[in-house]
Amino acid sequence: MTDFLDIHTTDTADLRHIIDSAIEAKAARQGRPKAAPDADQPLKDHMVALIFEKPSTRTRVSFDVGVRQMGGQTMVLSGSDMQLGHGETIADTARVLSRYVDLIMIRTFEEATLLEMAEYATVPVINGLTNRTHPCQIMADVMTFEEHNGPIKGKKVVWSGDGNNVFASFAHAAKQFEFDLVFTGPEPLDPERSLDGLYTTVRDPDEAVQGADLVVTDTWVSMHDPQSARERRHNQLRGYQVNDALMARAKPDALFMHCLPAHRDDEATSSVMDGPHSVIFDEAENRLHAQKAIMRWCLGR
Ligand code: CP
Ligand code: NVA
Repeated sequence: MTDFLDIHTTDTADLRHIIDSAIEAKAARQGRPKAAPDADQPLKDHMVALIFEKPSTRTRVSFDVGVRQMGGQTMVLSGSDMQLGHGETIADTARVLSRYVDLIMIRTFEEATLLEMAEYATVPVINGLTNRTHPCQIMADVMTFEEHNGPIKGKKVVWSGDGNNVFASFAHAAKQFEFDLVFTGPEPLDPERSLDGLYTTVRDPDEAVQGADLVVTDTWVSMHDPQSARERRHNQLRGYQVNDALMARAKPDALFMHCLPAHRDDEATSSVMDGPHSVIFDEAENRLHAQKAIMRWCLGR
């Protein structure tokens, strides 16, 4: 029984096992109806709590469907509807939930909430996004890259835009999966200092993207950012939009990724999002397969 809290706190061999297991299990389901149960039912008689302090489409639906395919049941809970949002401590919530459910996935505003949940829960806890990281997303992204273009080891990945929570998990993955990560973005939106040494910075986006195997971006305003910062951020980030001219500097077979939801024609143009390099909907699909493999690993299946 293990938590999946972050990519840098998970064993390298376990990460590789999760990706390989996800690819294998995805292939085994090929062509089957979405609600059809997997041949094995590793979550039979298991109850999973999916807790959201923030909105979600992909994380919510992919975890829910994944648990059901593996034979388990889910309850989707909103933080504000629970006593958690009305003064009950996270530690008490964790201990209570552990008496009812076998696994907890939680999306939080503060990373501290996730960590306290994990400390006090006696069942595995999975990080479904915090202000600081989004590890499930990047597991799906590594899987997606390898499905399309082979091993990610040694490849050049360029992040253009805000040095945010999704970037942080890419930085953790760069070390674990041994790819080169380049950050291009405005200095005020540089990644947090704890990530120093995991990536290199090239301020000029045209120079940064030269020869890239993968170009990635994300929204310019994250859910934890104050809306009051929107205009300033847009002004700072406009020059880092991923458009056709920027993609043309990458390798001819380069992939384009965005975790979604996207603000089309802000951080990336529709021509790129719907263009030949884009694998954004494969990424979204692979959330399902990667997270199923993560849940199996957490439960020792
Ligand atoms: N990429 C992602 O986590 O999407 P949701 O916010 O819709 O879950
Ligand atoms: N950086 C974004 C990712 C959403 C999936 C956010 O935190 O809002």
